[in-house]
Amino acid sequence: MIDLLLGLQWGDEGKGKIVDVLTSKYDIVARFQGGPNAGHTLEFDQKKHVLHTIPSGIFHENSMNIVGNGVVIDPVIFKAELDKLIPHDNSIISKLKISRKAHLILPTHALLDKASELQKGKSKIGSTLKGIGPTYMDKTGRNGLRVGDLEFDTWKDKFNALSQKHLELIGNYQVELDFDIEKLNATFFEAVEFMRRIEFIDSENYLHKAINDNKKILAEGAQGSLLDIDFGTYPFVTSSNTTAAGACTGLGIAPNQIKNVIGIFKAYTTRVGSGPFPTELFDKDGETLARVGNEFGATTGRPRRCGWLDLVALKYAIRINGVTELNMMKADVLSGFDKLKVCTHYNYKGESIEHLPFDINEKYVQPIYKEFKGWSQDITAISDPSEFPEELNEYIAFIEQELKTPIKIVSVGPDRTQTIFRDAIG
Ligand code: GDP
Ligand code: IMO
Ligand code: MG
Repeated sequence: MIDLLLGLQWGDEGKGKIVDVLTSKYDIVARFQGGPNAGHTLEFDQKKHVLHTIPSGIFHENSMNIVGNGVVIDPVIFKAELDKLIPHDNSIISKLKISRKAHLILPTHALLDKASELQKGKSKIGSTLKGIGPTYMDKTGRNGLRVGDLEFDTWKDKFNALSQKHLELIGNYQVELDFDIEKLNATFFEAVEFMRRIEFIDSENYLHKAINDNKKILAEGAQGSLLDIDFGTYPFVTSSNTTAAGACTGLGIAPNQIKNVIGIFKAYTTRVGSGPFPTELFDKDGETLARVGNEFGATTGRPRRCGWLDLVALKYAIRINGVTELNMMKADVLSGFDKLKVCTHYNYKGESIEHLPFDINEKYVQPIYKEFKGWSQDITAISDPSEFPEELNEYIAFIEQELKTPIKIVSVGPDRTQTIFRDAIG
């Protein structure tokens, strides 16, 4: 049995935290797409961990963690991630397996990403510059280097040919890039040797066997639905399918094996990087959300743009993913606002609409809001939904009614323990 957990907004919804909270119910956690552009934060025992490539189930004793074929791996970042984790838990290596079919991010992929963004200037995507776009381009262009290639003597020939091609491409950009390719490659080769300590597997076979053995699997998404290459705010998206379909292609699992689809959203909205954002705030409320929510990118440290909750976008994401249950994150960040707003419709070229049009640029789309009364209590120490302020209950009830999907978890702080299960109510 497989459950899916994914973000419904523009990423950073709190996926890492919830995967960590839910892992005790699962035997296996498997990442299905994205790469080190992701930053998944977990907090427990007064410690904070940020994961980029490693699945967020890694801190649990009995879970196996799979990096699926849909993921792109930068060995250098992967090694740095493990170097930080091993002192906490030296059994980590044995709790991790990597798909042979996952693609590798070469140093030149990241350079190409930088060159492309520099050339775009003001119209840049706002990429994390981790080489994600160029690596997926090589995957679909059928030029990529895969983890399984590392098991053959010819891998360095393939690496050199691809890297050389990239260097020629970089030469075609009218931008200045300062790099030492020998040094970058030496670090890469060292990291590849380190990576061999992890078992490379045919992860689709591993997961099929696990399904036959009645194991419970949680598929962990990265980024968010509005960054999906097909359904996001193109071209301001990432280069993978972040939506439910991505779990099938990114792990080799069939759609009819998926049971629950857990959709994660913040009680408001954030976005990092460029692109349209209808409910974005440029006022004091926006500043308050950013400050109280500590909204800085977990991977790049960039400030996140903040705005009110957008139900039009959430409805769209719920439909595309087939979400069966919702988790609302960072409810505590809304404490202290006199009034809260929720976008229920868009004014699209003078018409009130409830669906996401082709282009949600502010030129065409303005949000239509419903106002709610806020609450002043600090809710970070609450342990039971019966203690929620009435105004928070009203906020939750309205969202559930509009989205026609139960909110099973309300998160009231970054720590593992600050997680309220509403099963008894919902
Ligand atoms: P992810 O990429 O979806 O895993 O999310 P990130 O880790 O990038 O961003 C979520 C941020 O919010 C992290 O800093 C978390 O520690 C933090 N966080 C998660 N849940 C809550 C919550 O309920 N309240 C507060 N205040 N912070 C939270
Ligand atoms: P998690 O998993 C938020 C954004 C970037 C940029 C766009 C393309 O932590 O939620 P890319 O590096 O993929 O070429 O960047 O996507 N982006 C994210 N935003 N959270 C993420 O991951 C993101 N991964 C990429 O900011 O706008
Ligand atoms: Mg993140």
